[in-house]
Amino acid sequence: MSAGIQLKNSRDRWGAVSQALHWLILALVLWMAWLGLTMTDLPNTPRKVETYSLHKSLGLLVLALMLLRGAWRLYAGAPEPEPGTPAWQHRIATATHGALYLLLLAIPVSGWVINSASGFPLRWFGLFRVPQISARSEALEELAETWHEWMFWALVVLVLAHAAAAVWHHLFQQDATLVRMLPGRRRPPVDPSAPSP
Ligand code: HEM
Repeated sequence: MSAGIQLKNSRDRWGAVSQALHWLILALVLWMAWLGLTMTDLPNTPRKVETYSLHKSLGLLVLALMLLRGAWRLYAGAPEPEPGTPAWQHRIATATHGALYLLLLAIPVSGWVINSASGFPLRWFGLFRVPQISARSEALEELAETWHEWMFWALVVLVLAHAAAAVWHHLFQQDATLVRMLPGRRRPPVDPSAPSP
């Protein structure tokens, strides 16, 4: 077993890059959900505009990180399912992961469309002007808002199912599905012939 940090994914474990992207994006999405769900009710003060800008800049960061994550996954591959996982479970997991990727790309893009269609100027964390990706249109703005919201609730359902499956594997299947997405060395498999302490 190598002592250093393993960057690339291997047959039985996620490497450091995939792990970092996974947990960083989760933290950002939780923050984004909280900002999105609370910011619309803020009183009309400069703080509201700042909170919206933070939501938009962070959301575009999630979009960039998701593109990087997809590219890294294509390059570094993915571990195989834990031994003993039935094929139907693997199929559902793969479909869920695909849908999570699509939603985490489509939600920020729909947010970007809301912003572009409203014509509101946006600077990414105050650094540079973000280009508009659509024409100004109230109808498009409303459509994109509806999609943004509904795709977010679909994301909530899938994230809960995804997390529940990981915890279920850990507690009841007692395999490494969850542990192999966590930093640190993988626990060695239990050797049944070893004398007990
Ligand atoms: C992972 C990325 C994102 C997540 C999880 C997310 C989540 C949310 C949520 C939960 C809401 C509240 C929906 C509602 O109840 O109406 C919201 C609203 C909003 N989001 Fe996002 N968002 C993301 C990215 C973005 C981006 C990139 C932009 C713009 C560049 C953006 C712009 C907006 C705007 C303008 C609203 C308010 C819409 C309204 O006033 O009704 N979002 N977002």
